[in-house]
Amino acid sequence: MDKKGIDMVRTACKKAREIIEELKEYLVDGISTFEIELKSIELMKEKKVISAFKGYRGYPANICISVNYEVVHGIPKKGKILKEGDIVSLDVGVKYNGYYGDCADTFPVGKIEVKYKKLIEVSRKAFEKAIQEVYPGSKTGNIGYVIENYAKKYGFSVIKDFAGHGIGENLHQEPEIPNFGKKGEGSILLENQIIAIEPMIAEGVGETELLNDGWTAVTKDRKYAAHYENCVLIKKDGIEVLS
Ligand code: MF3
Ligand code: CO
Repeated sequence: MDKKGIDMVRTACKKAREIIEELKEYLVDGISTFEIELKSIELMKEKKVISAFKGYRGYPANICISVNYEVVHGIPKKGKILKEGDIVSLDVGVKYNGYYGDCADTFPVGKIEVKYKKLIEVSRKAFEKAIQEVYPGSKTGNIGYVIENYAKKYGFSVIKDFAGHGIGENLHQEPEIPNFGKKGEGSILLENQIIAIEPMIAEGVGETELLNDGWTAVTKDRKYAAHYENCVLIKKDGIEVLS
């Protein structure tokens, strides 16, 4: 990507992250996920961005909110009420001047069980491990390998049905960044590419199925999952985490 494009993605990512940070304050016992959706519409307006998700392949909402055993692409709903002990993944993608930014994180509602704290921590730390594998000439398999390996160390599994992705003038573009893989395999990473790395970590075996809303992906065994996502710029001599 050229310098101008990179600057736009950087700004888009920064705004997406700010929105998540503001939304997380609303994750309290008794609130519906639809109310969070409404707040996100307000924040996007304020920040002069539009949702990258609404209308994407027919996705009906502004953001994704995935609770407990929901893995990704949870559609905000009026009847979906958060309660103490839940873990909630917020996934926010925005478009700014024709360029995209995308990020996600998982947060507790009030007090949660220790094992879920660990699950969230492992999803975040898997990302930190993964970025050590990001440099021009590296391969997507190196990233996937370290994410899966790290999750397994704690007895967790990775979600294989969804993956990270390149990002820029499209929300999703080449290369695909799976959360599993073999060292030295996959697509090669290039200088000035931007990739969204998104560990999705589950307690159980990590297989998923879709709810009949056509979007919400849940674990088949109904074990909980956590999701963390950031966009990363690949530079000649390092990386920059954009979101
Ligand atoms: N944030 C998701 C991702 O990282 C995309 C959501 S897809 C949508 O790939 F359909 F919900 F928009
Ligand atoms: Co993404």
